Amino acid sequence: LMVEKGNYRHFMQKEIFEQPVVVAQTLQSYLRPVEGQVALPDPDFDLSQIKRVTIVACGTSYYAGMVARYWIERFARVPVEIEAASEYRYREPVMEEGGLSLFISQSGETADTLAALRHARAGGQKIAVVVNVPTSSMAREADLLLPTHAGPEIGVASTKAFTCQLAVLAAFATHIARVKGQLTQQEEQDIVRHLAEAPAALNAALAFNDTIENVATAIAPARDVLYIGRGPDYPLAMEGALKLKEISYIHAEGYAAGEMKHGPIALIDDKVPIIVLAPSGPLFEKTVSNMQEMQARGGKVILISDEKGIQEAGDNCLATLTMPKVHPLIAPIVYAIPVQLLAYHVAVIKGTDVDQPRNLAKSVTVE
Ligand code: G6P
Repeated sequence: LMVEKGNYRHFMQKEIFEQPVVVAQTLQSYLRPVEGQVALPDPDFDLSQIKRVTIVACGTSYYAGMVARYWIERFARVPVEIEAASEYRYREPVMEEGGLSLFISQSGETADTLAALRHARAGGQKIAVVVNVPTSSMAREADLLLPTHAGPEIGVASTKAFTCQLAVLAAFATHIARVKGQLTQQEEQDIVRHLAEAPAALNAALAFNDTIENVATAIAPARDVLYIGRGPDYPLAMEGALKLKEISYIHAEGYAAGEMKHGPIALIDDKVPIIVLAPSGPLFEKTVSNMQEMQARGGKVILISDEKGIQEAGDNCLATLTMPKVHPLIAPIVYAIPVQLLAYHVAVIKGTDVDQPRNLAKSVTVE
């Protein structure tokens, strides 16, 4: 299969810009907008009897899983644990009856995740798989197969697979909430409506490409960069930091905004840019107060929020990026765009090999 770059300079850039289309494509097979319902393939086990969900993945897919934990717990009221596949296998996890193990992988071949899947199967767990390659090993070994329709992803640093994973995971969380009797019809309709708005919101976020390119010039000289967020935007902070590390080789860390004061705030000076992910919503005020603690110590903040958030808190920032106003549910899908583009433009400025970063492989099939 030949995939071309078309008018784009890099595959990663092309894949970032494809997201409105591929997320829409993915959502199409999981949403019934007219009925206001999600539609999942029928598993060969009873999802309503699931007592616990264990999410296992690596890298970017792991951060998608961290976002999903918030959704599944909030909507379905089912306890969720999540772990990196390389750790999960070797700590002798307790696997009880009624456990569902959920594996997330772009390639469906990552050795650690695949081995964890087989380990969970041997432990009597039901196996659900969110995967982008439908012919992969993980896809073949699933009891419940939840494909993403991102199309082939060539850039080593994952982008469009991530947002498609989030789209599927949001639909999955909604579905399990319904079969568990935790959602009214109205609530499900609302979620479906918000999810259906994601592709347009992704387009609106992409329109800020030039602004983000400008911000990237301020980030490129930095030695360290911090990303902070709360709730479902905390995993996104880690994903943002991972993207920057992977392709620009700048040291970056994603942190839970409220944890900064327990250590990392000691790193703050005017040389460390801080990317704050703070959509307006229930956690906004808290994140902003953490942000102000850092500004008080000379920290240079780039605030990513919506118009309302930026009006309220954007004053003393080095730069602000205005995202479309979206429901907090879909914010992690939309806020993926600015963190991906920021990493991309910093890497281009630094002249690194964006699509084939040093030391990394697209699919890690060794332990
Ligand atoms: C590699 C890639 C990452 C990816 C991770 C997990 O490290 O460089 O971009 O997130 O593997 O891959 P998977 O195919 O399992 O999602």
